[in-house]
Amino acid sequence: MHNVTRVGIRFHIFTLKLSHVKLWHWDFYREYVELNDAGHEDEYDDTLIALLELIWGEGFLSPGGPQAVRDIVKGLDLKDKLVLDIGCGLGGLDVILATDYGARVIGLDVEQELVKQAVERVERAGLIERVSCRLSEPGPLPLDDEEVDVVFGKDSWIHIEDKNAFFSEAFRVLKPGGILTAGDWMRSDKPYGNDMKYFFEMEGLTYHMDTLGNYGEILRDCGFTEITLEDIADDYRNQALQEYAAMQGPLKQQMINALGEEKQAFFVENWRALTVVLDAGELRPARFRAYKPG
Ligand SMILES: C[S@@+](CC[C@H](N)C(=O)[O-])C[C@H]1O[C@@H](n2cnc3c(N)ncnc32)[C@H](O)[C@@H]1O
Repeated sequence: MHNVTRVGIRFHIFTLKLSHVKLWHWDFYREYVELNDAGHEDEYDDTLIALLELIWGEGFLSPGGPQAVRDIVKGLDLKDKLVLDIGCGLGGLDVILATDYGARVIGLDVEQELVKQAVERVERAGLIERVSCRLSEPGPLPLDDEEVDVVFGKDSWIHIEDKNAFFSEAFRVLKPGGILTAGDWMRSDKPYGNDMKYFFEMEGLTYHMDTLGNYGEILRDCGFTEITLEDIADDYRNQALQEYAAMQGPLKQQMINALGEEKQAFFVENWRALTVVLDAGELRPARFRAYKPG
C-alpha cells in the first residue's frame, strides 16, 4: 500500500512535469505563431484574386497588364539586370520582365497563396532559372546591400505604412547607379472625404496612401537623385469607367459564374465607388523613378 502510494505520487509528479513541458512548448509555439501573425495577415482571398484576374488579366492584381510594365520600365535596358519586384503578387509582371526584357527577377510578396501561384506561373513559363518569387515578411528586405540593379513595384507599396523605412531599404539593396522605378496608387493632399472613406470600406484592404509629392520628398531624404514623378490619374480614370461598364455588360455573366450574383453586385458597387474617387481626384495613380548615385 505504502509503495503503491509512492508510485502514485511519483507518477503524479511525472505527469505534472510532462504537462509543464507541454505548456512550455505550447507557449513557445503560440509566441512563434503570434510573432508571425503580427508580420502580416493575408488580405487577398480567392474571391478577390478571381475578380481582379477577370478584370485585369491572368497573373495581374493591378490595372494595365503588360502595357503597364512597359510604361514603368520605359527606356531602361534590363537585359541580364537583376530586378527586385517588391509586392510581386501573382507574378504576371515578373514573367513579362523576364521574357520581354531579358531581366533576372526576384519577386517578393507577403502573402503565401499569391507567392505559391506566382511560383507556379513562373514554372509554367519555363523561367525558373531567371525568376525567383519568394515569401517575405513586411519590414527589412531579405537582401544584401547593393545586390540589385533595379527596384520595381506596381501598385503594392500602397500597403506599406512606414514609407521612410521602406525607401531606405530600397536604397540599401540597390547597387550604386541603380534605379527605382514603380507605379502606385496615391492620394490627393486634401483630407479624405466621405466618398474616399466609403471606397476604403468597399475595398476592405489595408491602405497607407501618400501624396506623390511626399513620395518625392522621402525619396530625396533617402539619398535618391534624378527623381521624376508622373501623375497618371486621368489615364486610369478612363480605364476604370470602361471596367465599370464591362462589369455590368460583357463581363457580368463571367463574374456571376465565377463568384455568384451577390459578389458580382458587390464588386460592381465597389467599382462605382472607385470611379467616384478617381473622378473627384482623391485617388491618383502615379508612376515615379529615382536613381541611387553611382
Ligand atoms: C495590388 S497587389 C499588386 C500585385 C502586383 N504588383 C500586380 O500588380 O499584379 C498588391 C500586392 O502587394 C503585396 N504586399 C502587401 N504588403 C506588402 C509588403 N509589406 N511587402 C511586399 N508586398 C506586399 C500584396 O500581398 C499584394 O500582392
